[in-house]
Amino acid sequence: MGTKDSSAKPARKLIQIYDVARGGMGVGRVIDESDDYAGRVIFVAHTAPGDQIWCDVFKMKKKHGFARAVEYVQRSEQRVEPRCSAFEKCGGCDWQHLSLNDQWKIKKEGAITALKKALRFADMEVEFPHLEEFPALQGYGYRNRIQLHRFDDFLGFYEKGTQKGVRIENCELAHEEIQHWMKHSMASTSLKGKKLELTWTGQDILLQWDLANSERNFRQINDTQNKALVSWVQSHFLEGFHCYDLYGGSGNLSLSWAKKLHSIDCVDLSPLEKVDSWVENLDFHRKSVSDWLKAQEKKEIPTFAVLDPPRSGMSDHAQSIVAHLKRLGVQRVILVHCDVDAWCKDMVEFQKQGATWLSFAAFDFFPQTHHLELGSVLTFDTELSSS
Ligand SMILES: C[S@@+](CC[C@H](N)C(=O)[O-])C[C@H]1O[C@@H](n2cnc3c(N)ncnc32)[C@H](O)[C@@H]1O
Repeated sequence: MGTKDSSAKPARKLIQIYDVARGGMGVGRVIDESDDYAGRVIFVAHTAPGDQIWCDVFKMKKKHGFARAVEYVQRSEQRVEPRCSAFEKCGGCDWQHLSLNDQWKIKKEGAITALKKALRFADMEVEFPHLEEFPALQGYGYRNRIQLHRFDDFLGFYEKGTQKGVRIENCELAHEEIQHWMKHSMASTSLKGKKLELTWTGQDILLQWDLANSERNFRQINDTQNKALVSWVQSHFLEGFHCYDLYGGSGNLSLSWAKKLHSIDCVDLSPLEKVDSWVENLDFHRKSVSDWLKAQEKKEIPTFAVLDPPRSGMSDHAQSIVAHLKRLGVQRVILVHCDVDAWCKDMVEFQKQGATWLSFAAFDFFPQTHHLELGSVLTFDTELSSS
């Protein structure tokens, strides 16, 4: 029937890799024509187009399978040298073996293909606007925050897909000050909990053990790309309007534009961080977005919204959130996402409820991984000019 017992000994196959999927894995096929699985698509982590590898298949489904590389017959010319010695073991990075340019190409093309497919499923005719591109300027050293886990007597990261720990001496993605702490102080630090969050504040390294979600304030992890994101988002703001900054954290996306806006409502579940540039026309609400919107009345002032949901997107609340934005007469929506699948789902909901798509952008916030940050601007029929 095409599905094999997953508990059976893994079958060794020679696989030719010809592509990389936007989810991170290399995509190949079984080469041997006489094999039962000849031609079947097989996904293999940490591979590149041109690799030919003996692999152990650990999962076979009807249309595709998953395998682990065992021995390389031929290595792709596209490969670059990974910086980290724990690469392929550590669950953090997928793509240190690919150049930043190749990573970017796979990410942006994957996102466009996924969105086209999603919108076709929703039976929509869409003209694709130009994609504004913000590739990463810095492939390593960009993370202002990392989380280490304690495994018995050491701090490290999880191995991909397991509960096992990977011993590391450094993380090449982390800001250089965090790397300095890891190289010089990590081994001697006393283990005071299960998880250690390390944050580069801009001045010092902040060490926080076992931080509860309720104590956590969201901060974008890539400061350079965050500047590009904020500037792109604000280039779509409408002067003099009221702004709903939904899933707004501490106002990262709207605060610096407050003077040009009539007013801002910033809605987020997390506790508030005291912001230096506290402004009078900005109100923070510690509520869930869907509950808060439900209780709102339409304003006399024209209004636009920014939505920057967590990785899961608006999820089960998408239908009601979009309906409330329409009921409240929101004229423009600037949607920010960090997950392509959730982005596609939420975009489909907007399309279903009559929104038109004006533009979109992609930002490489997470080099060496397959993750991508996306922005899109949508309008309901009633959009007016901001003048
Ligand atoms: C991707 S972050 C964006 C934060 C902010 N826009 C920024 O740029 O820093 C998503 C935010 O959504 C918040 N959040 C998650 N679920 C929520 C919900 N149901 N209602 C309100 N906020 C929520 C989280 O606390 C987090 O701050």
